[in-house]
Amino acid sequence: MGTIDMNHPQRVWVSRPLFPEVVAKLAEHFEVLAESEDQRRSPEQLRAKLAEVDGALLGLADRVDAAVLAGNRRLKAIANLGVGYNNLDIDALNAAGIVATNTPDVLTESVADYAWALLLAAARRVSAAERWLRAGHWQGMRFDDWLSVDVHGKALGILGMGRIGQAVARRAAGFGMAVSYHNRRPLPAELEQACRARYVDKPTLLRESDHLVLVLPFTPENRHAIGAPELAAMKPTAVLVNIARGGIVDDAALAAALREGRLGAAGLDVFEGEPAVHADLLKLDNVVLSPHIASATADTRRAMASLAADNLIAALGRGPRAGRPPTPINPAVLAK
Ligand code: GLV
Repeated sequence: MGTIDMNHPQRVWVSRPLFPEVVAKLAEHFEVLAESEDQRRSPEQLRAKLAEVDGALLGLADRVDAAVLAGNRRLKAIANLGVGYNNLDIDALNAAGIVATNTPDVLTESVADYAWALLLAAARRVSAAERWLRAGHWQGMRFDDWLSVDVHGKALGILGMGRIGQAVARRAAGFGMAVSYHNRRPLPAELEQACRARYVDKPTLLRESDHLVLVLPFTPENRHAIGAPELAAMKPTAVLVNIARGGIVDDAALAAALREGRLGAAGLDVFEGEPAVHADLLKLDNVVLSPHIASATADTRRAMASLAADNLIAALGRGPRAGRPPTPINPAVLAK
């Protein structure tokens, strides 16, 4: 980071509507340009906005790469509103000397809760049954109708075992489930014990899981980590939950497997090319769909916004943690 001129008023841009108290916190330190509409911006629009500010608080739909940063001499910090940061090209930020931050930890428990909401809803057909009831089809209880699959006592698989995966695993104890996971590396033994989870290879995880939750980061290697071959390896009754990122699952292959009864059900909070949702998924009743809301409780979204603001304030050399943002993604930039 270059040296900070305390006489020059720093300007920050908040790209999405944010809680007023968080904007007010930023305004104690900076001139704040805060958007009141949630808009999609072209790379050119983003480039123009970022050229006029010292820092930016961005949402996951704002994609920053080398082209967006080209010619930018002013920007020093980006605070990303989310734990995942596949919208940011970290190499390009490093090259430009821009520090980026994310919002880990504060959302872990809410996102893990939501994974369970989707798992239970998909396995027990909650959304489909409600649609049917609201459509006026319920004429009386039929004992042999609306049969679904159990969650309790089944084998839970978790692909990706970071903080959120571990929080999903810990909740499984209450459902009496056997938990297996696959990750780039096995967890240290004490963490494995705390999660009561067993490390297995990916083929074993796919083959043995009754229910599989995806919690891995979206990297180029993880694109279509669940595609047609992986879906074919799963139980035809299995429930798949994706709370990670669109693109980790091949949505077209998933829709085909759900339609053809090669997979039981799915719960999806994220989609390839969102906010667009694959047309074939929208036609199916055995999938629960939600608009990327796993962290969206009032408490957690406020905590995320507040952490992002603290990061931006510190990264731009202000406040009690000046120069030491709480959760940097590329801290080496700060040392320069
Ligand atoms: C949400 O998807 C996040 O990465 O926080």
